[in-house]
Amino acid sequence: MISDAMKGKEFSAKEGELILLHNPPGLDVRRLLIAGLGKEKDLSTESCRRLGGMASRRLRKQSIAGMAVVLPGHHSESAAVQALVEGFLIGPGGIDAYRTDKKEREKDPYHGSYTRLTLLTSSVTSSMRKAAHIGATVAEGVILVRRLVNTPGNLMTPVVLASETRKACRKAGVSVSVLNEKQIRDKGFGGVVAVSSGSSNPPRFIVMRYIPESAKSRKRPPLVMVGKGITFDSGGISLKPTASMEEMKADMAGAGAVIGAMSVIGRLKPDRPVTGIVPACENMPSGSATRPGDVITTYSGKTIEVLNTDAEGRLILADALAFALEEKPAAIVDIATLTGACIVALGHVYAGLMGNDTDWVEIVRETAAQHGEKAWPLPMDPEYDNLVKSDIADVRNTGKDSPGAISAAKLLEKFVGDTRWAHMDIAGMDWRKEATSWIGLGPTGYGVRTLTALAFREDY
Ligand code: BES
Ligand code: ZN
Ligand code: ZN
Repeated sequence: MISDAMKGKEFSAKEGELILLHNPPGLDVRRLLIAGLGKEKDLSTESCRRLGGMASRRLRKQSIAGMAVVLPGHHSESAAVQALVEGFLIGPGGIDAYRTDKKEREKDPYHGSYTRLTLLTSSVTSSMRKAAHIGATVAEGVILVRRLVNTPGNLMTPVVLASETRKACRKAGVSVSVLNEKQIRDKGFGGVVAVSSGSSNPPRFIVMRYIPESAKSRKRPPLVMVGKGITFDSGGISLKPTASMEEMKADMAGAGAVIGAMSVIGRLKPDRPVTGIVPACENMPSGSATRPGDVITTYSGKTIEVLNTDAEGRLILADALAFALEEKPAAIVDIATLTGACIVALGHVYAGLMGNDTDWVEIVRETAAQHGEKAWPLPMDPEYDNLVKSDIADVRNTGKDSPGAISAAKLLEKFVGDTRWAHMDIAGMDWRKEATSWIGLGPTGYGVRTLTALAFREDY
């Protein structure tokens, strides 16, 4: 039947192609979905993830109750299983959670229940079972992030983000502490205070801690991950243009990734402590807003000259990174929708990746690649240092010259001391404007898979 379909040019097995055959003779199934995966030599873990997504999207469209998938040949069966399950759960879904017509909302992933997936393999190993469990847990984290990022700014304020964090982490056994406005001010988080000063929605400073069970593992230095939590970025007094400003409800996608990853990490229990830090603010213009030209004092004591109030992410991250050092981290990774310049450099295919330690940056890059979240290193040579030199303060919040993604990272670098640190600029990665064959449009949940996998690596 497949050969016939190929002869008739209905199917060529290219990646993304699907063909549904009814009552295939000799098989005890009603419907057989054949999915093209492209050339065998190009088969990757990502192909498995896409296969899961394509098949389940097709499945949902036709309200089929369950499906069985023959596991494609792959160099690592457990990586294939994990990716397939991830794709199956992540693939379907729309972003129209606020449409009142139930029928119109049929594709909404947040209200539906998932159909059953059966994996067919010649033998079932315990590592495959484990991989399926990991895949399902990671997918849950990704779905959580997509819901948080999809929520509009009027409904997703810093206070709401904190309570969503509590909810997600409580279920996962991760402890959460939240500083309120007064505590933020008293502790001297000057970046958070400056950015939120124009908004009537007060800021929150969220800290999540996962602590492993064994006494020995507890003593290990933690992985610390920091996420930019701007629940809406109007630009502040340096107001953004109207066109596309609505996209800035997604300016907490980095925070989402950290929250999502912590909720997964609590369930999957890696062997080292992990701390997640999210400064959450809304960036708005008003009579009490920070002005261009203002100088602020951050948590570390270092001063920043604010030349553009739209470069707000780095102000709150400066506080959060300085605070992160108190955890005595093994390494830090931050994730932020930080600069439009990063989109100019890399588009919507790769996140920008920078840092102060080539080995740690390479670990992050490789981990991201293994989990279908691409990230590309940008240079951080000392020649770029003068981009952020201020005439009146320790550092300025806009670059003097064009490489905007690098100058933002150069500012952050001033706040991490000698601790190994990597920075992911995900400005182009948080939102997909068009659906693909395997996943719908809208928030991507980028970062959950990388951050989770980093917690399990033992080589740093
Ligand atoms: N949140 C934006 C960056 C962004 C832009 C994310 C587009 C996703 C899509 C950030 O706060 C910002 O406004 N950055 C400015 C910095 C500039 C004023 C130095 C930018 O990129 O234009
Ligand atoms: Zn901004
Ligand atoms: Zn922003």
